[in-house]
Amino acid sequence: MVYAVCFDYAMNVSEGRAPEHPRGLGRGPGIRGKRVVVTGGGRGLGEQIVRLLVAEGALVATCARTAGDLAALAASLDPKARERLYTQALDVTEPEQLENFVAAAEKRFNGLDGAVACAGGSRGGGLERSDPADWAATWAVNVGHTARLIRAAVPHLRAAGGGSVVVIASISGWKPGPGAQYGAAKSAQIHLAASLARELGPDGIRVNTVSPGSMLIPGRRWDRMRTEQPEAFAAFVSAELPGGRPVAPQEVAHVVAFLLSDWSSGISGAHLPVDRAQNAPAPDGY
Ligand SMILES: NC(=O)c1ccc[n+]([C@@H]2O[C@H](COP(=O)([O-])OP(=O)(O)OC[C@H]3O[C@@H](n4cnc5c(N)ncnc54)[C@H](OP(=O)(O)O)[C@@H]3O)[C@@H](O)[C@H]2O)c1
Repeated sequence: MVYAVCFDYAMNVSEGRAPEHPRGLGRGPGIRGKRVVVTGGGRGLGEQIVRLLVAEGALVATCARTAGDLAALAASLDPKARERLYTQALDVTEPEQLENFVAAAEKRFNGLDGAVACAGGSRGGGLERSDPADWAATWAVNVGHTARLIRAAVPHLRAAGGGSVVVIASISGWKPGPGAQYGAAKSAQIHLAASLARELGPDGIRVNTVSPGSMLIPGRRWDRMRTEQPEAFAAFVSAELPGGRPVAPQEVAHVVAFLLSDWSSGISGAHLPVDRAQNAPAPDGY
């Protein structure tokens, strides 16, 4: 579908006609009815991406290891929205589980238009406080799962005439910071997405990376610091966050929705930091 829109647009431009706007312009972010898989939707950023997409009328399949988080997410939606959500409890670093999940989502929705690699994280500390297993685990959950997700989704996106893939990296993959295994894995995701954008471009499949800054997620590090150590939090904001506060996961989700939509049909291979000008990870971690 995206491919067809892009092609019509390009033909109009090359033949000197005024380009027609893609579907959805002026009627929401253009993701209504799109069929999307999102990994790591049980909490944090992934949960906010799922909530936004479902609220905007997309059909969304998501996964996480904790079945209770997925059940709570589904239970919190109104019944109509819940019908557009499909969940599976699984580990994205287990190849067969991830591939079966993508196949099940495609079957459930009768096709796929997009994929978001959001599950991620870090294991181990600094160089001398992390071992090879920490490096391997950090690589697997960030880079390995992303490559496998895209590989599993590509035949379905191609069958739909094209699609959009969004990879969640981090400003830690863009600028150096502590936890080199995490930064190296996030950096690899940015490179992977740009390379696949070129490889999959002929199929009408766009691939972009979104790099959040330090997100304010309820109950997580920066939120705890905000409530438990307000002076330290104020100093952190003053020193590291020119935007005056950490970025909210909802703000990152807006950008992901834009990249999944036809509004962004001209963007592929891009890396978009969404960090309210933070620009680099904090000296003691993202
Ligand atoms: N938090 C930040 O400030 C920040 C900043 C920059 C970038 N990021 C990136 O943004 C993404 C989301 O971060 P977040 O802080 O929202 O993460 P989070 O709160 O730790 O949530 C991650 C989600 O992914 C799931 N997940 C993790 N490992 C998984 C696995 N092996 N298999 C299946 N599901 C798994 C988690 O569920 P289970 O644990 O139940 O599996 C959870 O639902 C990550 O890629 C992270 O690197 C985060």
